Amino acid sequence: MSPSVDTRRRATLIGGAAALGAGLLPRIAAAADPVKVGLILPMSGPFASTGREIDTAVRLYQQKYGDSAGGRKVEILLKDDGGLMPDATKRIAQELVVNEKVQVLAGFGLTPLAFAAAPIATQAKVPMVVMAAATSIIPQRSPYIVRTGFTLAQVTAPLADWAAKDNTLKIRSVMTLVSDYGPGIDAERVFTKHFTAGGGKILDSLRVPLQNPDFAPFMQRIKDSKPDAVFAFVPSGAGAAVMKQFAERGLSAAGVRLICTGDVLDDELMPSIGQVAVGVHSSHHYSAAHPSPENKEYVRDFMKLSKGMRPNFHSVGGYDGIHLVYEALKKTGGDADGDKLLAAMKGMKWTSVRGPVSIDPDTRDIVQNVYIRKAEMVDGGVYNVEFETIPNFKDPGV
Ligand code: PHB
Repeated sequence: MSPSVDTRRRATLIGGAAALGAGLLPRIAAAADPVKVGLILPMSGPFASTGREIDTAVRLYQQKYGDSAGGRKVEILLKDDGGLMPDATKRIAQELVVNEKVQVLAGFGLTPLAFAAAPIATQAKVPMVVMAAATSIIPQRSPYIVRTGFTLAQVTAPLADWAAKDNTLKIRSVMTLVSDYGPGIDAERVFTKHFTAGGGKILDSLRVPLQNPDFAPFMQRIKDSKPDAVFAFVPSGAGAAVMKQFAERGLSAAGVRLICTGDVLDDELMPSIGQVAVGVHSSHHYSAAHPSPENKEYVRDFMKLSKGMRPNFHSVGGYDGIHLVYEALKKTGGDADGDKLLAAMKGMKWTSVRGPVSIDPDTRDIVQNVYIRKAEMVDGGVYNVEFETIPNFKDPGV
């Protein structure tokens, strides 16, 4: 354990002894203090869109529901970790816990960053709400992790099952193309397992570097191999480059379809991807075109607050993540003790803008609908239109 976390523990013990001596008084004093939430996001660098989306969603939530829950003011401390350096995320998490005394850690744009912060949450006994990072194994890295985003396995398995049985596109052979790190490898494995179980064939599995990827040579290899389709996953922010290379290399004309997770057809990027996306089938847990009254209101308010940015799936992980913190505080009556908050979060159910969701009390992962979608022109813009629902779907593991 680092000396600084040790210092915090000592401070907590002294506070605890004083509380015992003075009866209820310190508790009342503590209740007047804000509950601090350390929100660590990539606000700069190649994954800054994830930070922008989640930050906007959390501000929208507080604008709509106020800045207190369970009688306590909720103060958000936003920190930029740049998105690419696990050591920076770990240091920021440690500083937030030790110096700022945050009682919840939240955010985490990419898997390696969530891995880096997990031991800090365990040592400090603070809930860590993972809003974006989506490798299946993440919640196993700390008993204090709760996830409000999704997992790649969760959205990929239904797409592979659907593609293997769909008789309109008749996809029987696929090449996979994924970013070469945690969530990409999960997506590749789960797609392969489900698609081959459904009778399909995988011709090859291509992995692209996470940083500065050049998709052109990979698209050429796919074109030369002529599978019925390419299945693609890249993290949010990188999808436009995939779509551009898919179009420029003429894969469609060569008879190769694209199917993908919704990370590639990220709603924030859809206006810049444009027409190229039309007709592409994908799967995900959220689309800005989700036709519920809650979502229509969310999209309208989000775009107003962000001055025109479309909410994407990461924004919803953020919106539901802060909702979970608020609801847990209401349940504990404002007590922000880590173990009590965590117990309150387990099993929580609510209607999200994406549909019904709950936190599995055993795995601390989100259970939610997964939708199969097709990109279409709607009201002058390209949207992922949901046409099939796999209800209340748990992370199937890898
Ligand atoms: C991840 O690093 O876990 C991650 C990031 C962005 C995504 C999906 C997964 O869109």
